Amino acid sequence: MTKILDGVAIAAAIKQEVAEEVRALAALGVRPGMAAVLVGNVAASEIYVRSKVQSCAELGIYSDLIKPPATVTTEEILALVASLNARDEIDGILIQLPLPTQVDTKALLDAVSPAKDVDGFHPVNAGRLMAGRTALAPCTPAGIIEILKRSGIPISGQHAVVVGRSDIVGKPAAMLLLHQNATVTICHSKTRDLGAIIRQADILVAAIGRAGFITPEMVRPGATIIDVGMNRITDRGEFDRLFAGDAKREATFSKRGSTLVGDVHPKAFELAGAYTPVPGGVGKLTIAMLMANTVRAAKMRRGL
Ligand code: GUN
Repeated sequence: MTKILDGVAIAAAIKQEVAEEVRALAALGVRPGMAAVLVGNVAASEIYVRSKVQSCAELGIYSDLIKPPATVTTEEILALVASLNARDEIDGILIQLPLPTQVDTKALLDAVSPAKDVDGFHPVNAGRLMAGRTALAPCTPAGIIEILKRSGIPISGQHAVVVGRSDIVGKPAAMLLLHQNATVTICHSKTRDLGAIIRQADILVAAIGRAGFITPEMVRPGATIIDVGMNRITDRGEFDRLFAGDAKREATFSKRGSTLVGDVHPKAFELAGAYTPVPGGVGKLTIAMLMANTVRAAKMRRGL
């Protein structure tokens, strides 16, 4: 029987635990706070950030949403980040990506105080993660580990194959899996005989950003599949390749003209021992871990 790993339920459990921590901190007179910086009017970013701010409110975390215009310069956002670094009621700074092309994203991420870097994108936190020290780890990779642990899926000694080498997901996910004693292989677009390597995975993490890229013949029966992909497809031919015969998806696609699909072909999930669906899988964990990181940052900054 294939088990569906319910990201919605796991995220809810984590949020509940974070809310309890927030209550305990309130008794000490501490209220964790997060600043979200949303530049311009990118629709997807607006949805994500709204969700992040709303989660803060649900959990009793203070939040401040700052919306510079799409024409903002690097210098202007650097000044904003400096002011957020200095504000004592702000424990976490989140700069929603992507930023407009005129903004130097790396310079900006480097300017965030590592102690307030709740996305875990600062090189200091990336380095700490690599060195196995206490770190604010990137939220999506941290969420992957929570899904595996809370679902009772063993990691130690397992062969984890991470497909994708981004700084935000692939690389940190590989590092976190390694720290849990997995044997880790990182693959990418230049990997020779990719299918043969993916087929060795006990735990497969798909973070490529290509709809339905992982096909059934690449999956070892019984493997655990973590699908990080969030691809919105609008093309009918692509839809048919992925969802032919799926009446529920057909209804969504006909109504909206698009549907959300991961990096794993739906037919490949049928071979898995367990998998995260899209939507309703890993995506839900990202915000829960952001909340957890914000409370963690609040505690660390106060030596608690
Ligand atoms: N854009 C896409 N994913 C993320 C994320 O996890 N954090 C931020 N800040 N921006 C993103």
